[in-house]
Amino acid sequence: MTESTMFNELAIALNDQIQAVNPVAYEMLSALGKRIYFPSKGILSQSAEARTLAKKFNATIGTALSNHQAMCLPCVMDSLPGFSPNDALLYAPSYGQKPLREAWKAKILHDNPSLADVPFSLPVVTNGLSQALSLAGDLFLDPGDSILIPNMVWDNYLLNYSERLQANLNFFPFFLQSHLNTEAFAEALSGYSAGQKVFVILNFPNNPTGYTPLETEAQALADALLKTAERGVKVVALIDDAYYGLFFDPACQQESLFCKIAGKSRNLMAIKADAATKECYVWGLRVGFLSFAIGGAEADSPLFTALEAKTAGLIRATVSNCSALSQKIIAKALTSGKFYEQRAENVAIMHERCNAVMETLAAHPEYGEFFVAYPFNSGYFMCLKILKTTAPKLRRVLLDRYATGGIAMGETDLRLAFSCVEKEQIPELFETIYLACKDLS
Ligand SMILES: Cc1ncc(COP(=O)(O)O)c(C=O)c1O
Repeated sequence: MTESTMFNELAIALNDQIQAVNPVAYEMLSALGKRIYFPSKGILSQSAEARTLAKKFNATIGTALSNHQAMCLPCVMDSLPGFSPNDALLYAPSYGQKPLREAWKAKILHDNPSLADVPFSLPVVTNGLSQALSLAGDLFLDPGDSILIPNMVWDNYLLNYSERLQANLNFFPFFLQSHLNTEAFAEALSGYSAGQKVFVILNFPNNPTGYTPLETEAQALADALLKTAERGVKVVALIDDAYYGLFFDPACQQESLFCKIAGKSRNLMAIKADAATKECYVWGLRVGFLSFAIGGAEADSPLFTALEAKTAGLIRATVSNCSALSQKIIAKALTSGKFYEQRAENVAIMHERCNAVMETLAAHPEYGEFFVAYPFNSGYFMCLKILKTTAPKLRRVLLDRYATGGIAMGETDLRLAFSCVEKEQIPELFETIYLACKDLS
């Protein structure tokens, strides 16, 4: 039996759709990515058909209705003023609610004007950005596949891609002194030969460092990816835009790196993973998105429809669909007319905190005996390189003697989230770290 004869006919149809537009995109898919499909002919399609035709009795859906409304408990609805039971409680489609998907795409275009003429898919709604990242892995990674990532990353990538999906992680050094090590990135990519696949993950503003590339550095990253794709390497580039918009230096790139690579090569699958989580300050609502672009796929390409269907199929198989209430809340916020203004107000607060960190460090050269900051200009975090003790020891002393928490990343780095410290408290936070370092010396 060949691989494709084992596939469900719906998967075969989606795979044909992808291959007809760009066969390389199909080759990039994992075994699961090739196998998965959206069950458009099962319960869901029968329910959809009944919604239009079964005017007398519609006994298809696994929800409880009364007078055409979601049956509800008033003690639940008491917490949801402003929402009807239907809006708040019914299931969302596995793809996500269309008005939200469209509103998020409009937001992406508003924030990234250079995408205006670039074809990319309609974002699929995911359960937060974490699920968007794992879906991208499910679609494009088999055990043993190679991932290229910076040596300073969000630790959940390791759990997701190394432990869960058994991919091989290759790290490149993120910084060379005070700038992004774009040379090391290009060199690492040059190690892949034509025909091989590489899955690259880049996240800016970066967790844990709080660094976003300057425009020239961003261009160097994009050029390296495109050059690699043009050599015949199958490049899957996952751009994690978790902290998009929190840019505190006008010299750093203001658009997503996705813009510089989307649709630029038939060998480069650009994936944008983003979320309402940090951008809309709604961490627990769990609303994320996944969008795709690749050379050869025009606007509304069947390739996009197929990738969206495969993503929705994975969602259907795992969490079925994401919170309808959360989706309604975000769609309402995005279309409220107040979103951009209110977002800017919060960005200004975070900017002040970032400035306070920079000013504190500049005002205290004596801190340099014990710690120095890695470059930072954006996002939630900054990282200290600890010089005379280890980060885990310092973390312990900070907690036990000073009631102060930071995250030890490996032996040398301490991550500090200035996002959750008031501006006025920032000088004392660093003085506290200095005192703890002195205790340990
Ligand atoms: C770089 C990065 N990506 C993704 C996420 C996940 O976001 P979410 O809470 O939407 O799953 C985080 C959260 O901390 C993050 O720091």
